[in-house]
Amino acid sequence: MLKPEEIRAVMESFVMGTGRKCLDCHVEGDFGSDENNKKVVARKMLEMVREINTNTFNGSEKVTCYTCHRGANTPATPARRRNRIRNRLLSSAADRRGRTAHSEFSGSVREGA
Ligand code: HEC
Ligand code: HEC
Repeated sequence: MLKPEEIRAVMESFVMGTGRKCLDCHVEGDFGSDENNKKVVARKMLEMVREINTNTFNGSEKVTCYTCHRGANTPATPARRRNRIRNRLLSSAADRRGRTAHSEFSGSVREGA
């Protein structure tokens, strides 16, 4: 999927974007190997990023690994968003039962509130 002349720049953007080191994704001494699942995931991520840039941004490189990962392994957004969605679901379920979400779920919902 990558041309030889692209590899260096793209790998550097992976490292910067995700905070990972080369050998977190690669097998030592065999960069071509797909044995490490992180590499397989990273390839899917790259496909996703290219699709977004092609289809939504007219081919210009607006979205990168950094856009979501911010230099970290796991993007922070999904957990918070999951919590927000869960809060909404829980409070409407609690309303239906005539209770407050807080009394029942305070432990799990506080983080994302
Ligand atoms: C987040 C995971 C990740 C990190 C970190 C990473 N790589 Fe990669 N690397 C990949 C993926 C995925 C490919 C294959 C892309 C493709 O399908 O063409 C690849 C391809 C390569 C290739 C070409 C061989 C191949 O499989 O096509 C080399 C060489 C390479 N990386 C070196 C490096 C070096 C050196 C670093 C550190 C500066 C690095 N990589 C960091 C995921 C990573
Ligand atoms: C649209 C947002 C988004 C973009 C852009 C993105 N990622 Fe991800 N990435 C995610 C999410 C969400 C996860 C899953 C986190 C989880 O499991 O909670 C993830 C997970 C990963 C993982 C697995 C982490 C692990 O420890 O299992 C790797 C590796 C990764 N991304 C690499 C990349 C690379 C390399 C790029 C750039 C080509 C990239 N990502 C771009 C959202 C994104």
